[in-house]
Amino acid sequence: MKLDELVATAHALVAPGKGILAADESTGTIKKRFDTIQLASTEETRRAYRELLFTTAGVEQFISGVILYDETMRQQARDGTPLPQVLARQGIIPGIKVDKGAKDLPFFPGEKITEGLDGLRERLADYRSLGARFAKWRAVIDIGPAIPTASGIHANAHALARYAALCQEQDLVPIVEPEVLMDGDHGIERCAEVTEAVLRAVFEELYQARVALEGTLLKPNMVIAGKKSAHQAGAEEVAEATLRVLRRAVPAAVPGIVFLSGGQSPVQATENLNAMNRLGPQPWELSFSYGRALQEPVLQAWQGRETQVADAQRAYYHRAACNGAARFGRYTPEQEEAAVRHA
Ligand code: 13P
Repeated sequence: MKLDELVATAHALVAPGKGILAADESTGTIKKRFDTIQLASTEETRRAYRELLFTTAGVEQFISGVILYDETMRQQARDGTPLPQVLARQGIIPGIKVDKGAKDLPFFPGEKITEGLDGLRERLADYRSLGARFAKWRAVIDIGPAIPTASGIHANAHALARYAALCQEQDLVPIVEPEVLMDGDHGIERCAEVTEAVLRAVFEELYQARVALEGTLLKPNMVIAGKKSAHQAGAEEVAEATLRVLRRAVPAAVPGIVFLSGGQSPVQATENLNAMNRLGPQPWELSFSYGRALQEPVLQAWQGRETQVADAQRAYYHRAACNGAARFGRYTPEQEEAAVRHA
């Protein structure tokens, strides 16, 4: 393990003003995203879409790294350059999703366990040779009246730690993603309670697995009310509740926390990150690793049409810039209006 290199990569991924684009939708998930614009998901439409994202000029000011899916890692831009190299040429670090998805946890109705540990060492070595410098594994924790159970939390935390140790052994920075879902009608307090329990379990397992936290990034959910809850908290409340939980459960040795957007609207995800960064210095960088919150407006602008590529790239640049500002707590609603005026 090259710890110095892992630490340097982890810090570069959470450099001031920058965050991560999650473009690692599996073939099944990207189909769902393309369905929203009535676009067929084929190897070529997926390739064209990822090329559109990765060739957007100037986003490297706000985007430090991009998470790719296996297929994308092996695809090329129209000029023949492998897509991971298109990113690396702009100083954007390529990463790779390595889990194989969440499956039902036997005997625990409603709970999931993420699979993909078998053969992972060899797959990580392959991805590193293709240019990846970091990886991602997502665990999924749902909230219900009787879930999550301690067993469900433990199984997922253990798998995350096994994955993280293998990553560091293969000189890849692990992004550890325990996602507490925002589905359901629970209030923000219940999300806080579950998120704290999950994070405490994850850091205990990382310790037991001898993972170096200095070369690890955490990708958590924000502490937020369930989508179907009658009381939706505002940005200040989300920021305070999220930081309270993180300060209790995340060691200061972790260089950065890169939030997932999890179904929040693009503007909401930016506002919440901004509110957190306005609360003053924390032990870790507070950044983003957004999928939907960066890409929804891009897909809407693109519609699968060659003639709309420039518009789609403008939409991506704009959201990246807004989140870049939120990294400093300097995002304002006027930033959205200015983009509309320039469109
Ligand atoms: P969302 O921001 O759309 O939640 O995606 C982030 C991600 O990578 C989930 O694994």
